[in-house]
Amino acid sequence: MKKLMAANWKLHKTPAETREFFRQFLPQAPNLGVDCLFFPPATSWEAASEVLKDQPVQWGAQNIWFEAQGAFTGEASAQTLKALGGQACLVGHSERRRLFNESPDWMGRKVAFAQNLGLTPVLCVGETLEEREAGRTSEVVIAQLREGLSSAVPAPNLVIAYEPVWAIGTGRVASSAQVAEAHQLIHAELEQKGFQGTRILYGGSVKPDNAKELLSIPHVDGFLVGGASLEVESFLKICQA
Ligand code: PGA
Repeated sequence: MKKLMAANWKLHKTPAETREFFRQFLPQAPNLGVDCLFFPPATSWEAASEVLKDQPVQWGAQNIWFEAQGAFTGEASAQTLKALGGQACLVGHSERRRLFNESPDWMGRKVAFAQNLGLTPVLCVGETLEEREAGRTSEVVIAQLREGLSSAVPAPNLVIAYEPVWAIGTGRVASSAQVAEAHQLIHAELEQKGFQGTRILYGGSVKPDNAKELLSIPHVDGFLVGGASLEVESFLKICQA
C-alpha cells in the first residue's frame, strides 16, 4: 500500500493562494510515489475543485457535520463537498475537539455520515500532555477510536490519524518509541475490530528533517502535516522522504 501524505491547511490560504500552491505542486505530483490528500479551508474548496479536477491528487474538508443540510449556522455541507468533487474529510481534529468543544459522541456519527456519502473519513485521535503524563495515553486513544468507529464499516478508504495534542504546532515531535507504541496499539485495535488494512497516519510537527525517521516506524502509513504543508517545497520534501 502506498504511503498517504495529507496536508491540513487549517485557516490558511485564500482561493488565489490555493491555486498558486497547486500550480507549483502538481507538476511534481506524479513522480512522488505516494498518495496526496489536501484539506484546504472551506472558502478555498471551489478553487481546489477547479485546479484538482482530473489530477492525481485528492482533497477534502477539515470538518463535516452529520446532516446534509438544515438549520446549522456556520457549518459547511458535506453534500456541497461531494458536489465539488471533494473525496475526504477530517473528523475529530484536536483543534475541533478542544477549541470548538466538539462532543466525543459526534465523532461516530460524522465518520458514518462521511462513509455513507462515499467520502474517506480521516479520524483523528490523540492524547493531551496532561493525559500522557497521567499514564492515560492508551485509554484515551482507544476510547476515541471506539467512539469514532462505533458506526463505521471496514473499508479501504478509512484512515486514522494519531496526533498527540502536545506535538501539534509546537515543534515538539513525539519520540520514535512513543510513535511506535501508539501506532502498534491502534493497529492491534483495528485488527481486532475487523478494520484490517486501515492506514494509520502520524501527525504533530512533521518536518522535512524528521519525516524519514518517522516513516521507518512500523504501522506509520503516512502523515497528517500542518505547518510544513503550507510551503510547496517543504511538503514536497516530506513526500519524497
Ligand atoms: P503541525 O499540525 O504539523 O503543524 O503540528 C498537524 C495537524 O494539526 O494536523
